[in-house]
Amino acid sequence: MTTADRCTAALTNPDSIVTMRQTSERQDMDVFEAMEKRASVRAFKPGQVPRDELLKIIDAGRRAPSGYNHQGWQFIAVIDPAILRQLGQIQDCIGQASAAVAVVMEETRFWKEDASAAIENMLLAAVALGYGSLWVEGYVLRQEPLARQILGVPDDLRVIAVLPVGHPAKEARQAEKKPLDAVLHWNRFGQRDS
Ligand SMILES: Cc1cc2nc3c(=O)[nH]c(=O)nc-3n(C[C@H](O)[C@H](O)[C@H](O)COP(=O)(O)O)c2cc1C
Repeated sequence: MTTADRCTAALTNPDSIVTMRQTSERQDMDVFEAMEKRASVRAFKPGQVPRDELLKIIDAGRRAPSGYNHQGWQFIAVIDPAILRQLGQIQDCIGQASAAVAVVMEETRFWKEDASAAIENMLLAAVALGYGSLWVEGYVLRQEPLARQILGVPDDLRVIAVLPVGHPAKEARQAEKKPLDAVLHWNRFGQRDS
């Protein structure tokens, strides 16, 4: 089996992370569609996030690449409404979400890159399952002692981000992106044509 065959098999495998059989009212979503649909959601309406789907999202984070395969992450699945409300002190919308995932890291050489890879995997998985989410890192880092206290995280670990997960209050729209032509170079910087 070639690498291309393996990639195709992974994308069409019903057990793969992003192309997964959705519940009856949802369509299959491949990784490209998930990347297009992903958008920062900052307002949520009430609605369940079943435990098995929250676990699928976190499992996607666990599968991310990491420097030296260190995997220095711990994920806190927050489902207690009282704790979600407290996390709303960090950024309002976390308090409206049905669940959240806090990303806790050992400070290894590539800890921010490793966390980022896990976070993006989880954002895409959340979209593939029909939920909205948000990468809350700026607000968390500004109030890390509060996040640490709410979540009971030991002092030798960093709380880098909290991802609220829930049902978007309105249709989510991804922020405008620069066109591909504006960021693409062929072979050497500045060469715009192939
Ligand atoms: C490292 C990082 C930190 C971020 N921190 C926050 C945050 O604390 N609060 C927030 O509302 N959005 C945060 N965001 C989301 C960005 O504002 C958002 O991704 C960006 O505006 C583009 O919008 P899009 O996600 O819809 O493409 C963060 C994103 C990244 C990558």
